[in-house]
Amino acid sequence: MARVVLQRISKSYPGVKALDDIDLVIETGEFFTLLGPSGCGKTTLLRTIAGFNRHDSGHVLIGGRNVDDVPAYRRDIGMVYQDYAIFPHLSVSDNVAFGLKTRSRPRPEIAERVARALDLVQLGGHAKRLPHELSGGQQQRVALARAMVINPQILLMDEPLSNLDAKLRIELRDDIRALQRSLGITTIYVTHDQEEALVISDRICVMQGGRVHQVASPQNLYARPATVFVASFVGTMNVLADCQVGPGGALSLGRRPCVLSSLAGRARVTLAIRPEEVILPDAVEQADAISLDGVIDRVTFAGREAFYRIGCGDGLAILAHVHRPSERRLAAAGDTIRVALPISRLHAFDPADGSRIDLGRSDPER
Ligand SMILES: Nc1ncnc2c1ncn2[C@@H]1O[C@H](COP(=O)(O)OP(=O)(O)OP(=O)(O)O)[C@@H](O)[C@H]1O
Ligand SMILES: [Mg+2]
Repeated sequence: MARVVLQRISKSYPGVKALDDIDLVIETGEFFTLLGPSGCGKTTLLRTIAGFNRHDSGHVLIGGRNVDDVPAYRRDIGMVYQDYAIFPHLSVSDNVAFGLKTRSRPRPEIAERVARALDLVQLGGHAKRLPHELSGGQQQRVALARAMVINPQILLMDEPLSNLDAKLRIELRDDIRALQRSLGITTIYVTHDQEEALVISDRICVMQGGRVHQVASPQNLYARPATVFVASFVGTMNVLADCQVGPGGALSLGRRPCVLSSLAGRARVTLAIRPEEVILPDAVEQADAISLDGVIDRVTFAGREAFYRIGCGDGLAILAHVHRPSERRLAAAGDTIRVALPISRLHAFDPADGSRIDLGRSDPER
């Protein structure tokens, strides 16, 4: 088990800067996730840590040792890929034994370690089967057992769940997390699925265009997104782009004037608010809120919750979360509605560079 340190890593391909000056520290035993849209550099970064890619500049340290010039097979890592990548002609146990055989471990030791790894991934009864006799989820469990059986210092996983159906994804996701906890192995996990990242990680690194936007715990990422990109990529967020700011921080938005003194001196601001923070009209009139009148253009009922999408004029649509929808009469499309966006729940960003503007609130640090 080891700490991973990345220092100023950059990597370019013709016409694209895949990694742009990445600085990261992944702590020993941590479940660390690289999250971002397609093409943001997640796989490139993971392969750099594994040693399959050579970076143009910067350094990779694993367990305090500089491994820039250490080939992949000597870096002591386990790797799990999206497409399972297990050998089709080898049985489950021979697949898992592979790494131990190439390391010339004695036979009894191999048998014992393979059996233990298969038990860990709940494939104890499937040792003799061939991969084509397994479901996708089981094949991915084989890949996981094969990566773990060698007791690697770090475990790297590149979208290991993306070929599985929704139910299996959740099942294997929870199993991977539990397994990682019990073994305490430093794990770097790649996904473009923000919900998966929130559920599975100790910390998440949000990337875009080869750069790091934010590194934070799931709760902090959700509560205090550092950039407007993180705000819109993680969870659902209403973004009120590029709003005009008057003297003293007065917002010319909504029915009544609303002042955000920390915005004084700025001409424009991008505001954002989560659907679950939007207050619907049966709540009392909010004093410190942007109050908007609109027309519901869509009602989505999803059982545990529902959503209204409310057109508020000027192309502004606000998504509002309806708590416990089965306990109330839902509005219908076409209904007029008044919503309040409480100032205390607003996020603010600089429209020029997307960076977070501190509104002077004391949010609990998580
Ligand atoms: N071998 C390569 N040759 C040229 N360009 C590459 C190569 N590998 C990656 N790239 C480019 O580098 C950028 C980052 O690619 P990368 O595969 O790391 O993205 P990703 O975040 O893993 O995306 P995805 O979610 O689609 O897997 C992309 O613009 C990609 O086209
Ligand atoms: Mg990728």
